[in-house]
Amino acid sequence: MGNSDGPPSYPVTDAICPFYIEKHSRVQTSFGISLHLVVDLDSDCRNQSPGILSEADTVAENPPVMPTKIAVVYYSMYGHIRQIALEVKKGLESAGCEVTFLKVPETLPDEVLAKMGAPGIGAEDEVATADKLTEYDGIMFGIPTRFGMAAAQMKAFMDSTGGLWQKGALVGKPAGIFFSTGTQNGGQETTALTFLTQLTHHGMVFVPLGYTNPIMFDLKEPHGGSPYGCGTLAGADGSRQPSDIEKELAVTHGSHFGKIAAKLTAK
Ligand SMILES: Cc1cc2nc3c(=O)[nH]c(=O)nc-3n(C[C@H](O)[C@H](O)[C@H](O)COP(=O)(O)O)c2cc1C
Repeated sequence: MGNSDGPPSYPVTDAICPFYIEKHSRVQTSFGISLHLVVDLDSDCRNQSPGILSEADTVAENPPVMPTKIAVVYYSMYGHIRQIALEVKKGLESAGCEVTFLKVPETLPDEVLAKMGAPGIGAEDEVATADKLTEYDGIMFGIPTRFGMAAAQMKAFMDSTGGLWQKGALVGKPAGIFFSTGTQNGGQETTALTFLTQLTHHGMVFVPLGYTNPIMFDLKEPHGGSPYGCGTLAGADGSRQPSDIEKELAVTHGSHFGKIAAKLTAK
């Protein structure tokens, strides 16, 4: 067993055959010590000596995997955006992300909300603040359309992020957009396009839906969603609910975003 010129070599047995070692890197010796074997698989195994790694070395090789943290920052007056957010969350989680919903603060007075029949969606979610955004690796923005662009509540929230912009705190973070309109041509593209100025000024990396799911080409029924992001059609009176196609696109956008966010934030 001893070797006067170098590290000790051990008799070759089945236990240190490379093919066995690939599956069983820890081997119990006959004298009771657990060895972590390191063998150069390109060389003749008969000339190799096993190395011994400490527990610390082994941990360094396999650091704990931290999930990619994604915030879904949204506003939803009647619930359509929040329903799509739940599907986006499924997609993000399928890509191994940890998801937090942050609802942007309301800007309308209660009496106006009452006149608009707003039921108070998302009371269970954390309220978004600018500072919280820095805690996340990526952000997906859920936005209902107002006159072809983002609702003022979302714009007001973005106006509160000037301090982050000064510090470049969001630079390089991936960002996605999803939306809800009353009608088919009411802003499924313009809501995202006009919101791109926000992401651009922050130096964020836009992750669109693209045509990553062939159902995008399906014309058998009207549906929300565009290459800019997933989306839903609420109907002129808000009574329409997200369809199966829209939900599927939302899951696709979430998982696509999650995979890209994980690559961008890989340590
Ligand atoms: C003031 C106002 C303006 C709106 N402008 C548009 C519009 O330009 N295009 C459109 O399709 N829907 C428009 N809508 C309908 C909203 O987009 C719809 O209520 C919303 O997408 C529903 O999402 P939510 O349930 O998450 O609030 C408007 C609604 C309001 C109250």
